[in-house]
Amino acid sequence: MLKKLFSRQDIATTVKDLGRRIENDFVNEEILFVCLLKGSFIFTSDLVRQVANPSRVDFMRVSSYGNQMTTRGNVEIIKDLEEDIEDKNVVIVEDIIDSGLTLSRVKDMLLTRKPKVLKICALIDKRCRREVEIEGDYVGFTIDDGFVVGYGIDYAEYYRNCPDICVVVEENEV
Ligand code: PRP
Repeated sequence: MLKKLFSRQDIATTVKDLGRRIENDFVNEEILFVCLLKGSFIFTSDLVRQVANPSRVDFMRVSSYGNQMTTRGNVEIIKDLEEDIEDKNVVIVEDIIDSGLTLSRVKDMLLTRKPKVLKICALIDKRCRREVEIEGDYVGFTIDDGFVVGYGIDYAEYYRNCPDICVVVEENEV
């Protein structure tokens, strides 16, 4: 079952704060937000409305593949950006950093396209699970291990529409 971890009010306050921090770093500058689908679609839509800078939004979808028998952390582009990011201020918007493999690969891919600045804004950082070195420049919540859903984050594609962020717990853990 689901146990509420962050309410919609907690999330709204945190997203507003993230927006302020981004604005402060990019005074009078244009920003291109890169929403990593699918998990970041709700976070991105709220975040960009908290940033007053002239902004554009583009979308990218990648899939991780690999298992113990192959190399873990391969990332394949399923849907690429439509915008050219060369010389742009780019902020990658990610719902959650877990092992860090996805973001690390995406960051490397986007850096080859020579953006002016490349920052990472992550709503949730599950730092204890990190397998590669990668840090968010703007991080909303840092959490311990645990399976979270809601606010765009899924379990088997469900719960993305849950307005709060919840942790999946066993009945006897409640
Ligand atoms: C989730 C999440 C991050 C990634 C984090 O995406 O949205 O992109 O996993 O994990 P990592 O740090 O271990 O790479 P997922 O692949 O489940 O796809 P989704 O966004 O479409 O739900």
